Amino acid sequence: MIIEKTNSSYSKIRPYIPGANIEEVQEEYGIESLIKLASNENPLGVSPRGIEALNSTANGVNIYPDPSAISLRKAIARKLGTTMEQIIVSNGASGVLRLVTEILIESRDEVVYSKPTFPAYYNNTVRNGGVPVEVPLAEGYRYNLQGMLDAITDKTKLMIICNPNNPTGTILSYAEIEQFLDAVPRDILVVVDEAYIEFVENRDEADALQGLNKFANLLIVRTFSKIYGLAGLRIGYGIASKEIIDTLYKAHQTFVTSSPALAAAEAAIDDDEFLETVKRNNQIGKEYLFQAFTEMGFDVVESEANFLFVDMKIEAIEAYKGLLKKGCIIRPMGKFVRVTIGTEAENKALIAALKELK
Ligand SMILES: Cc1ncc(COP(=O)(O)O)c(C=O)c1O
Repeated sequence: MIIEKTNSSYSKIRPYIPGANIEEVQEEYGIESLIKLASNENPLGVSPRGIEALNSTANGVNIYPDPSAISLRKAIARKLGTTMEQIIVSNGASGVLRLVTEILIESRDEVVYSKPTFPAYYNNTVRNGGVPVEVPLAEGYRYNLQGMLDAITDKTKLMIICNPNNPTGTILSYAEIEQFLDAVPRDILVVVDEAYIEFVENRDEADALQGLNKFANLLIVRTFSKIYGLAGLRIGYGIASKEIIDTLYKAHQTFVTSSPALAAAEAAIDDDEFLETVKRNNQIGKEYLFQAFTEMGFDVVESEANFLFVDMKIEAIEAYKGLLKKGCIIRPMGKFVRVTIGTEAENKALIAALKELK
């Protein structure tokens, strides 16, 4: 049986637990409209420019997409002030993260990151027989750079910083990241996962792009899934030296993304109006939810992303179940919940439902 023949790494994988399924919840509890604030998706939908470009590709999907994603890479490079050769496009930030681990990590190699963070870092590592070295977050739920430096051994091959961190929303300044990069041996690759960087208020103070030409061992990962609203298309990118990008492309699965995704991303990247609207909605919603949760007696972590990490002070699964019955899906994590910031109406409905539960 194939089940008995899975390799020794397979048993270590922690399966992804998806947010509750909208249709199933609606059916079970007889709820008409449901609010899903569990997966940090864009509550305002898709970039209008992205949709337009997406629709225009329908007739061409009999043709394979450009495996080198030249046009989108040029557009990203123009936007960021890099060269096209410094960009890799893949099926989401997830695609880049997986590829990096795949080509670097083998049996007993160590991958260092802080915890709690994005769960894919763990799974990518164990899948290749590597050892995840999970350093608890520092005070204030901040990513623990000093702890990560202290954890370096001669087996360390990869270090991952999530900035802002999922699920806490906490942020490191670029100055802190630069200090860290200065201290890391140059033969260790440092990935900075900036999936939520576009939501950061003082972005210039955080953006690791500033270190691109200084550190040859730096790879930045970004996505079109969040602020651009293209999560369903699966498209993201990595930024690094030409040497790192060439190395990644050699092992990259051909045709891993799709022509509709490439076209939509290329159009969305210039949709400044949509990005501004999403950012403003996020800012207003974040302030509203922060205050509302605080007034209800919960502790909320200051967030620079499109979600809040809230200490419910009880097993959050109870709040999760109660809210589910009232048509709100959030993500429980021990005694915390992670709540995606929604539209004004969604945020208000969530707080009203929570008040009814108390
Ligand atoms: C920190 C972080 N990195 C990467 C990803 C994956 O993004 P993508 O949809 O581009 O694969 C996510 C998605 O939630 C995330 O939270």
